[in-house]
Amino acid sequence: MENTVRLLKRIGFSSTTYLEAVALLYGDDGSIVNVVPLGFKLRDGYIVSKVYRGGRTYEAIVGNLVRSGCICITQDARLFYLSIFEKDRAIKLFTNREDVCDAIIEFAIESTDSERNSILMYAKPLAVKILRRIPRGFTRASASIIEALVWLTKIPYTSKKKRAELVKHIELCLESIHRSSRSKIYRSIARKIHIKMQKYINA
Ligand SMILES: Cc1cc2nc3c(=O)[nH]c(=O)nc-3n(C[C@H](O)[C@H](O)[C@H](O)COP(=O)(O)O)c2cc1C
Repeated sequence: MENTVRLLKRIGFSSTTYLEAVALLYGDDGSIVNVVPLGFKLRDGYIVSKVYRGGRTYEAIVGNLVRSGCICITQDARLFYLSIFEKDRAIKLFTNREDVCDAIIEFAIESTDSERNSILMYAKPLAVKILRRIPRGFTRASASIIEALVWLTKIPYTSKKKRAELVKHIELCLESIHRSSRSKIYRSIARKIHIKMQKYINA
């Protein structure tokens, strides 16, 4: 356990800062029940995530449909995007090619704590697999996509009055993607984020 925690800290898990990653959640029969980007902190040897009410993940945890899973450590913005909007494609990627993740942490859900609009999930790390040894550099485009997705996924849970602020944040992120990358994939994701944002605010 001590070794696992040391490794988790080297990967970037900490008690102070959310580590953003993609979680795969398993049902009792080992099938993938969901794939979802979540933020994680390390607390007393446990990986903790606050899952907000309103999504599939929340329902699956509350309904006891998932007891274990794995966390995929990646900076690949496309994986974050697919894990929200094209979950089947994301699952296919994860099942066909393990190397889409830089590291994988297998976990078992040890306990949960219900709060008013969320549930805290305490996951016990079982094994850590490091899959990428070559360092990956930081790109603003990738960071901005992930940031835009965070704001975008907050829109449905935000009052109409406050949505304009989120839209401003998203637009700044999209501008940053355009300024820092000519990647067709990134630009296509930026377009899709923009379309989704419009849909949310016009709904
Ligand atoms: C980088 C990133 C981190 C996120 N962290 C969380 C989180 O910690 N808790 C949460 O409830 N939602 C978080 N979200 C939002 C969910 O991923 C998003 O609402 C998702 O669509 C929920 O999917 P589901 O309906 O399958 O649960 C995050 C999104 C991104 C892009």
